[in-house]
Amino acid sequence: MQRAETREYGTTKVEIDNTSSLFQGFENQNDFLMSHTDFVSEVPAGFKNTGKTMHCPNAAMENPDKKLYGIQFHPEVNLSVNGTKVIHNFLFNICKCSGDWQISSFVQDSIKNLKEKIGDKKALCALSGGVDSSVAAVLLHKAIGKNLTCIFVDHGLLRKNEGDEVEEVFRNQFDINLIRVNAKDRFLSKLAGVTDPERKRKIIGEEFIRVFEEEAKKIGTVDFLVQGTIYPDVIESGLGKSSVIKSHHNVGGLPDYVDFKEIVEPLRDLFKDEVRKTGLELGIPENLVFRQPFPGPGLAIRIIGDITDDKLNILKDADSIFREEVANAGLDRKINQYFAVLTNLKSVGVMGDERTYDYTIALRAVETTDFMTGVWSKIPYDVLEKVSSRIVNEVKHVNRVVYDITSKPPATIEWE
Ligand code: XMP
Repeated sequence: MQRAETREYGTTKVEIDNTSSLFQGFENQNDFLMSHTDFVSEVPAGFKNTGKTMHCPNAAMENPDKKLYGIQFHPEVNLSVNGTKVIHNFLFNICKCSGDWQISSFVQDSIKNLKEKIGDKKALCALSGGVDSSVAAVLLHKAIGKNLTCIFVDHGLLRKNEGDEVEEVFRNQFDINLIRVNAKDRFLSKLAGVTDPERKRKIIGEEFIRVFEEEAKKIGTVDFLVQGTIYPDVIESGLGKSSVIKSHHNVGGLPDYVDFKEIVEPLRDLFKDEVRKTGLELGIPENLVFRQPFPGPGLAIRIIGDITDDKLNILKDADSIFREEVANAGLDRKINQYFAVLTNLKSVGVMGDERTYDYTIALRAVETTDFMTGVWSKIPYDVLEKVSSRIVNEVKHVNRVVYDITSKPPATIEWE
């Protein structure tokens, strides 16, 4: 292993040996995501080289006799063209998998396992209204019925009207035991003056748990805490070897002391598209299943700098206009995540004859399937124009709107 002089970062031409079972059906040159500073200078005995790039002499290697295969690029991300085909070849050509696993069997097995694990004991679910926790809640509800209580902590950092919508769906449509805690003041006072993104996340994560503990005590003995953690959260919270990018409040931000016997995370091994399929399988309405993801810390990480009630209202209104216009343009399924960010920047503007000195709203929209990489969405100018003009006209204290044209990597989807 050597440290490379040139760091490879981004989609890179990889020249491969397409006689390898791993690369069956590929051209010789392929665009894959490379993201590294090291390279293998010499393949080990018994291995042969099956891929290289301009700066990396051994980007793929194999020892077919021992069924050992190595690649340096990332086949799992959207930026690798046909990357999943590499994984497909590995599973089907090399490991001889049959591919008969289905979401319906995942759902049945999960319900059975949860029933066995929880039995007559009580479980509490952290319901946020997002896709992940909603699917986790319904899965648990199918397994243990009224022994599940969902606590929906409305931290006041949700999108416009979202708290009421969540309550309507879970209490009225699904008849799930639901406790809504209106805790906005409590969260805002803890967050007052806090500007560091990681501190915001930690504070919100910790406060969430405190609220749960208090509610749990009111209910009586509660043995299990259910969380909607999904696989990308696990990876990005650095529980493996990769370094922490952001601590997700449903994984990395847990305080040391948690007043529950055990945490249950039924979606921990699933990617987002699989969570959605699970949701449909469970009979959750499509509009909820295809709702764009929303981070646990909510709008707190979309307000750069400190958070105040006034700033929250500005952001909620701007975000709601953006979402409305994206839906009006029929782009809401095409763009996987889109939202407004309240930057901490004030700039000079003019309205009528008046000089203004007000906030800048940034619009963020990305297309992705795995949320681990993504490209910025090329929203048509006329849609952006309408959004911009509506925001500056309808939302007080905003006089400028900008569009974020950065992909992930190098930027993340959220601004904090
Ligand atoms: P980033 O900003 O890391 O986000 O590119 C990737 C995806 O994760 C969502 N996200 C979160 N979800 N708790 C969550 O449940 C969190 O703390 C959190 N932070 C980011 C983000 O909205 C995007 O979909």
